[in-house]
Amino acid sequence: MKTNEIRRKFIDFFVSKGHREVASSSLLPANDPTLLFTNAGMNQFKDCFLGLEKRDYKTATTAQKCVRAGGKHNDLENVGFTARHHTFFEMLGNFSFGDYFKEKAITYAWELLTTVYNLPAEKLLVTVYHTDDEAFDIWNKVIGVPAEKIIRIGDKADGGSDNFWQMGDTGPCGPCSEIFYDHGDHIWGGPPGSAEEDGDRFIEIWNLVFMQFNRDEEGTLHPLPNPSIDTGMGLERISAILQKVHSNYEIDLFVNLIQASADAVGIKDLNNNSLKVLSDHIRSVSFLIADGILPSNEGRGYVLRRIIRRAIRHGYKLGQKDLFFYKIVPALVKEMGEAYPQLVEKQDFIIETIKEEEKRFSTTLENGLKLLEADIANLKSKEIQGETIFKLYDTYGFPVDLTNDIAREQDLTLDMAGFERCMEEQRERARAASNFGAEKLLKIDHLAQTAFKGYEQADSEAEIHAILVNGEEVDQIHNGDEAMIVLTETPFYGESGGQVGDTGTIKGDGFTFLVKDTKKQQDIFLHIGVVTEGSISKSAKVTAEIDNSRRNLIRKNHSATHLLHKALQTLLGSHIEQKGSLVTDERLRFDFSHNKPVSFAELQNIERMVNEAIRQNDPILIEEMAIDDAKAKGAMALFGEKYGDQVRVVEMGGSIELCGGTHVAATGDIGLFKITQETGIAAGVRRIEAVTGGQAVEIMLEESATLHHLGATLKTDSAHITSRVEQALDESKSLRKELAQLQSKLVFANRGAILGKAEVIHDVKVILAKVDGADSRSLRELCDNLQAETQGITLLMSEVDGRVAIVAGVDKALTSTIKAGELLNIAATIVGGKGGGRPDSATGAGSNPQEIPQAFKAADEWIKAKLG
Ligand code: ALA
Repeated sequence: MKTNEIRRKFIDFFVSKGHREVASSSLLPANDPTLLFTNAGMNQFKDCFLGLEKRDYKTATTAQKCVRAGGKHNDLENVGFTARHHTFFEMLGNFSFGDYFKEKAITYAWELLTTVYNLPAEKLLVTVYHTDDEAFDIWNKVIGVPAEKIIRIGDKADGGSDNFWQMGDTGPCGPCSEIFYDHGDHIWGGPPGSAEEDGDRFIEIWNLVFMQFNRDEEGTLHPLPNPSIDTGMGLERISAILQKVHSNYEIDLFVNLIQASADAVGIKDLNNNSLKVLSDHIRSVSFLIADGILPSNEGRGYVLRRIIRRAIRHGYKLGQKDLFFYKIVPALVKEMGEAYPQLVEKQDFIIETIKEEEKRFSTTLENGLKLLEADIANLKSKEIQGETIFKLYDTYGFPVDLTNDIAREQDLTLDMAGFERCMEEQRERARAASNFGAEKLLKIDHLAQTAFKGYEQADSEAEIHAILVNGEEVDQIHNGDEAMIVLTETPFYGESGGQVGDTGTIKGDGFTFLVKDTKKQQDIFLHIGVVTEGSISKSAKVTAEIDNSRRNLIRKNHSATHLLHKALQTLLGSHIEQKGSLVTDERLRFDFSHNKPVSFAELQNIERMVNEAIRQNDPILIEEMAIDDAKAKGAMALFGEKYGDQVRVVEMGGSIELCGGTHVAATGDIGLFKITQETGIAAGVRRIEAVTGGQAVEIMLEESATLHHLGATLKTDSAHITSRVEQALDESKSLRKELAQLQSKLVFANRGAILGKAEVIHDVKVILAKVDGADSRSLRELCDNLQAETQGITLLMSEVDGRVAIVAGVDKALTSTIKAGELLNIAATIVGGKGGGRPDSATGAGSNPQEIPQAFKAADEWIKAKLG
């Protein structure tokens, strides 16, 4: 039975038992910061088990993509060395949310295994949690499994148990019952719970979890509202058993991927372990990219980078130094595209992303490996030094586990303590560098936080809470003093979330303070500026007023940034992730993950979409709510950003973002949106700059003025400018060609005269001539032509634009005596230049035309001496 069929039969079986077929969720866990990647079928149903979410079905079945690389479950380093480890695998599961419980779960599992997959009952044995008599009895009395084939498994010394499953340190959990397949006594290994349980004879195929508890942060177990079922069967394992092969890598799916991997690296030996690595890694890499993760230097992106780089190194080990890994993608799409259509949809994007990463690493891989080899050759112990690991990591892009892989192959270990020391030193250097010249944190923690009124008001009455000069608190400042003022409340927005701080005035009785910028330290707002009138004392009553027309420009740019973000996700894909932004009164800048330039046509579509949203004139809805409610609403949050429990959610034109910034009232207020620039700022990160409102209008006007001017110059209207310019370019091209032809004609007009003046020196025809008006190319043509006729020696020079062009030709039969390059340089040195070429033909240039006669004279003497 083929893998695809085994997957299908599983789902169909549970659908026939009334389960809802649910698609695999993304590898990027939604709303779950406790998880690096989706690692079990139940992840997407976590809230259903906890009773926090109700769906319109109570039983479900899935084939779930899972990745176990990095984080709590990390199998990366074992892949390639064992028969059953994968970075990516599929988990088949059936779930009950308060519907059926143990008995049905066990009955279903047994029925599927023995009647659909037709496994012989006597080959199966099961485990139960040591105190779970209920499960024991169901297996024994209802199913008929003999008691000696039901093994009770207790707790391990460290507290966990193989028969008590939990997703992570917290969350739904419960006792479980595992089903094992006995490969027979010809394979070494003992039953679960025995000393030989790690052998390959008894293989776990299915885990039935009886979800009963929720574990909280203190470790306490709380009963779930309804006992539930979560099961998981590794598709690759059950396929190996049904296809009667021993290793997962021998199932049909992997046989094809291993063949494709061998083709990509160009080797014939299909048993090479590195091929297992490639065929495993192409799955995790492709699926992760399809789910929007891009290689990067942190978090999930770094795990992806590590996997790709590990694969590249294995290809290199097999002798493949060109880009190759991306070539396996089509084979994967062929194997798995039907079950996972997103692979088909994103195939090109996956290929390009892998290719880019291969390019990036190929430049450093070879040098890094050389460094490592040299280091290993000089090792006095069995340990690779921390400095080497660090250098490989820092300079050559070798993830530590890659270095470890190589070390392991040679029975060496890594000096991780030394590596950590180097890392810490580097962090220290980075800290020192970033503090240099940067603003110091002010000692103002004792001040009360400022109440921010600037969402609703442009001015407010307040009191001066503190005045700071050079970071120190003072009681009074006078006309001309630069200072920072802290108020009890303020309408000034303090720079944050990419939005710049407000400017404006703080006025009181007989004084004015001009605010040039506003910053925030925690929730204390610092108005930075200068006294322009009178003296200002602490506790004075003031009116603080922002420059509202500037703020309005900022509002437009901030709201437009949200629309731009939304348009990018819609048009370029869900992998678009915000990497940074800047919103000022003049423009907006948005950085995002995307691995290639955004084309002109795409940019135009983005402008079109944003402007359409502007014309819709939707009101901007802003609401404060609990973070969980915001996430449930689908609000986009920045990965890695910390948010409080209460967040501000900004909604407009289909975009929902967590945002503390200031916005227009309705999208129509933005007026117009125009992109001014698109650039790359780092590997995989693009930047779009744009303007809105009046500035956008000005840019459009400027562009149309340029067009108008061009039209006037070309004497045509804007509709015909392109064709007129193309025509002009064509014309100038053919004129250039004509000019070249004429020039060469002119040069050749002298040919007869030059030939006539040829000198014969010891039977060799020697031509030394100045050719007026010839450029280097026509000089060359003439020289070759003369040489064909004389089969002797030719040296030609001309003066072009105050410089000297020189060419020399020497017949091949004479090059043992005279080399063209030598001859040329005799002349070139005198005219202040140099040249070079082959023994029979050389070209050069000089800068002193007045020395041409001298140069000929010297060349003449030299030739005579040589031939004489
Ligand atoms: N969630 C269970 C597992 O991953 C089925 O083993």
